[in-house]
Amino acid sequence: MANQNDQFKKVVSHAKEYGYIFQSSEIYDGLSAVYDYAQNGVELKNNIREYWWKAMVQMHENIVGIDAAIFMHPTTWKASGHVDAFNDPLIDNKDSKKRYRADVLIEEYCAKIESKIDKEIKKAQKRFGDSFDKEQFLATNPRVLGYEEKINSTLSRMARSLENEDLVDVKALIEELEIADPLTGSKNWTDVKQFNLMFGTKLGASAESAMDLYLRPETAQGIFVNFLNVQKSGRLKIPFGIAQTGKAFRNEIVARQFIFRMREFEQMEMQFFIKPGTQQEWYERWKEIRLKWHLSLGMGEENYRFHDHEKLAHYADAAADIEFKFPFGFKELEGIHSRTDFDLRQHEEYSNKKLQYFDPEENKNYIPYVVETSIGLDRMFLAVFSNALQEEELENNTTRTVLRLPPVLAPTKAAILPLIKRDGLPEIARKIVDDLKWDFNVIYDEKDAVGRRYRRQDAAGTPFCITVDHDTLEDNMVTVRHRDTMEQKRVKIEELRELIKHEVDMRTWLKKM
Ligand code: GAP
Repeated sequence: MANQNDQFKKVVSHAKEYGYIFQSSEIYDGLSAVYDYAQNGVELKNNIREYWWKAMVQMHENIVGIDAAIFMHPTTWKASGHVDAFNDPLIDNKDSKKRYRADVLIEEYCAKIESKIDKEIKKAQKRFGDSFDKEQFLATNPRVLGYEEKINSTLSRMARSLENEDLVDVKALIEELEIADPLTGSKNWTDVKQFNLMFGTKLGASAESAMDLYLRPETAQGIFVNFLNVQKSGRLKIPFGIAQTGKAFRNEIVARQFIFRMREFEQMEMQFFIKPGTQQEWYERWKEIRLKWHLSLGMGEENYRFHDHEKLAHYADAAADIEFKFPFGFKELEGIHSRTDFDLRQHEEYSNKKLQYFDPEENKNYIPYVVETSIGLDRMFLAVFSNALQEEELENNTTRTVLRLPPVLAPTKAAILPLIKRDGLPEIARKIVDDLKWDFNVIYDEKDAVGRRYRRQDAAGTPFCITVDHDTLEDNMVTVRHRDTMEQKRVKIEELRELIKHEVDMRTWLKKM
């Protein structure tokens, strides 16, 4: 745990030191759970967004994109269920005065039991060596079975109570499990209460005529209300998808994990409109496609897992998360939800407008079903950034900090470094910058010894350093140093563009999907 905390602290401080992420309004002591993207952060964020957009919109003939407004007619949120059901069950600790999500406290309790199972597996693996059969062990070991029974009964009781709005039982469960305040150990809890997560605001100049609005808590509704406009103007045939990226806002109570849970964040969502009855098939298909997208970035297959939802959101008939191994453990990165026809049906009812599709093959109208893929851009940023940050022992007993960002996402693709600041080397380096900048984000750096400049670029995540030295004057070649291997090779200046392109081109990476 201490190690996880240390690693997470390093991620946060590295993000600040290298111009990735700053606390919002830092000079006024910041605003809790709100962050600003700095000069490198915005590039990384843009690249992740583009990588998603290309994979979803450009690579799929039947998916189009839109950009709906953040403000929407307030009835949207009545119809979507957010006014009545977008709540978190909260509980306060009377001693520490800290507020928690009751379901998260219970889930964390279960995660602790799960780590006990992992420990049992490791112990048994050691004891039995090569003859260890994990599946058999999990199916027969009485202690493991006991742990699993505890997890299952706890989670299903919680799901049942939340489903039935039985908050008294949620509190009873917390007390029976003897769950303590993670910060102070106190078990002195208040009752559990529901708390709506939407931010309200007003439209209009005078108090009497002002209209109550919400800042959208998800981008998805902008897609649903535009469904028929897009389908008709694009003459789209089912199955088809509408994709969108944009800001969403939630008044999160438990917002302690840097950009993991923010009050203002960005989503990348896609609603896939399908024939009713085909949802199971498309749900499985989209789970597979989205996992492949993640794996194409090469951040380690072992760092992902699916987690099926115990408690389904008010709109879903099936839902799973793609979880990623963050520095604080496996947590939700993306959700894939089978939303049935809930949203379109609700909007039909509340707007009194038909939101149906005429299926020429079936010769009839129906409300399509929807499978949604929804990922937080900031959360993806945290996954990429925290996974990339590594400290490496070198052969000469020194360490180096290296940010092994997938090159396709790196903010700066190459740093061009004159070995020294005279003898015409800066001029050649500047010329290389001027040539490469049309294709890639590159920078010029002449400050400090070249070794220090290499380390600075390693830590900033730049995949290539290109050094101009005295030999360049003779042979028109430069030294290219690779961030990950630290290998250096001489390359002709005119071959630089192809060499960089080979490693950073989205096409090469997306083809791995
Ligand atoms: N339209 C469905 C929807 O919004 P969600 O599971 O509430 O579903 C989808 O959110 C994704 O948005 C999550 O998997 C997560 O990556 C991201 N997300 C949600 N709340 C967030 C927050 N407060 N801060 C950062 N990312 C968040």
